[in-house]
Amino acid sequence: MDAVIHIRRRHVLARAELVATLVPGLDRWPGRGRTAAAATVGDMEIRPAAPDERSLVERVVAEAFEEEPGGRVSRLLRALDATSAVRSSLVAVDRGRIVGHVQLNRSWVDARPALVDVLVLSPLSTVPDRQGEGIGTALIGAALDEARRCASPAVFLEGAWNYYGKRGFQAATPLGFQRPSHRIPESAFQVALLEGYEPWMVGPLIYCEAFWSTDTVGLRDPRLAQVEEQAARSRP
Ligand SMILES: CC(C)(COP(=O)(O)OP(=O)(O)OC[C@H]1O[C@@H](n2cnc3c(N)ncnc32)[C@H](O)[C@@H]1OP(=O)(O)O)[C@@H](O)C(=O)NCCC(=O)NCCS
Repeated sequence: MDAVIHIRRRHVLARAELVATLVPGLDRWPGRGRTAAAATVGDMEIRPAAPDERSLVERVVAEAFEEEPGGRVSRLLRALDATSAVRSSLVAVDRGRIVGHVQLNRSWVDARPALVDVLVLSPLSTVPDRQGEGIGTALIGAALDEARRCASPAVFLEGAWNYYGKRGFQAATPLGFQRPSHRIPESAFQVALLEGYEPWMVGPLIYCEAFWSTDTVGLRDPRLAQVEEQAARSRP
């Protein structure tokens, strides 16, 4: 990312009834059922994580996902790193503290005319004591800017449609993409189409190896069935 992004804004939260977010940490959606208060994101910068910040990033991600260090999402981070799949790792820094992180990783769309390089946004994390202030939203925006800068035609993710749907993403299946696994509920399989996208670039999304080797693709029963039911109930 060329420029450091400086953000100063007031993010007023409404009470949000959200479908549980997906793997992992799906049942830990922040503040479910709580009435949120107004909060301010002070002078926060979003910038690429430095190589010596890896363990700090891992700690932020583990905290956000309420995992022990070395847990499933930490293992995913390491596997993505070890397989050179990381295309961008961005941190949100507020007064010297890393308060959030987002990562873009390589994957492919197996379109009929050609294999298309695309990006998968995963994971997205805000430290628990700063959630609900707009940091996640700012990180998603910065990640999409970064994807544009990389000339990626599309960014995919697995997540709650009513969260990411307001932040540049839309359901991927109706556009002609196929999920990497039937264990990703259709409502959670989302894509942001960018300027480089062309209509022929559709087909199955092929995840890079790290998602499989760490078993972080989609959900498994009984949680999968539960989430599918929730999604069916809350979809307009
Ligand atoms: C998901 C996550 C990254 C969002 O980050 P964030 O900084 O809290 O995101 P934002 O402040 O930009 O937006 C928060 C949204 O959740 C709601 N929310 C967040 N915290 C809330 C709280 N304490 N009370 C009520 N609503 C809350 C907000 O209303 C807002 O929803 P809306 O604007 O769509 O109505 C963060 O909660 C997190 O790290 N969760 C654990 C890891 C995870 O699940 N990652 C995503 C995997 S797909």
